[in-house]
Amino acid sequence: MFNREINNSFKYWNNLHKEYNRNDIKIDDWLVDFNSIILSSNTPILDLGCGSGNDTLYLINKGKKVISCDQSINAINNIKRNFPEVYGTKCFNMLHGMPFDDNSFEIIIADLCLHYFRKKDTLKILNEIKRILISGGHLIFRVNSINDVNHGAGQGKEIEHHLYETDDKRLKRFFNEEDIRYFFRDFNIEYLNEEIMTRYKHEKRLYRGCVSKK
Ligand SMILES: C[S@@+](CC[C@H](N)C(=O)[O-])C[C@H]1O[C@@H](n2cnc3c(N)ncnc32)[C@H](O)[C@@H]1O
Repeated sequence: MFNREINNSFKYWNNLHKEYNRNDIKIDDWLVDFNSIILSSNTPILDLGCGSGNDTLYLINKGKKVISCDQSINAINNIKRNFPEVYGTKCFNMLHGMPFDDNSFEIIIADLCLHYFRKKDTLKILNEIKRILISGGHLIFRVNSINDVNHGAGQGKEIEHHLYETDDKRLKRFFNEEDIRYFFRDFNIEYLNEEIMTRYKHEKRLYRGCVSKK
């Protein structure tokens, strides 16, 4: 059952990541408010679940060294082709841990990639993120809001609180503020806000957050 979910997620995302050109990428400016910590960081920045590389491109444009990560080999190959200046890439499934040493990163970006997991796996992934962050290091993230009705909130079979099974048998979690405070309880929450993103065809409601390692 769990393996089926993992395989379905991999197949879905790997099929979605078709070839594209760098010029086709639409950056949205959600990281701008965190420019001061981004610009002053010295270690490479990890872009977890990088997908097509919207955030990788934003960070490269700011002159930062970026390591782009995704489970999808197609996504990673696209990143290598479109962003030859990227500092590094890693293809791995976050459910199996993060292939990095303890205390390696000042900043980790996780944009719309932490809301696909069961409770125990979400906690495990956040624990891994904490392990590889330096003390005081920041995780900057966006996750689905429970109000994201255009993108499946409250739809399908609820298999855990706020975790739904999609028609193609993948998992999608939607957070409210209480959920975020629960899942990120081992971090200091420095910023948290529910917002609307307009990058997709239909507007998307999400939480934007910045937390630091205690
Ligand atoms: C909605 S896309 C977000 C892409 C990009 N961060 C952005 O905001 O444009 C989610 C990405 O997370 C990746 N992803 C989902 N589950 C993953 C997992 N278990 N391990 C690694 N990557 C995963 C997918 O392959 C996909 O590229």
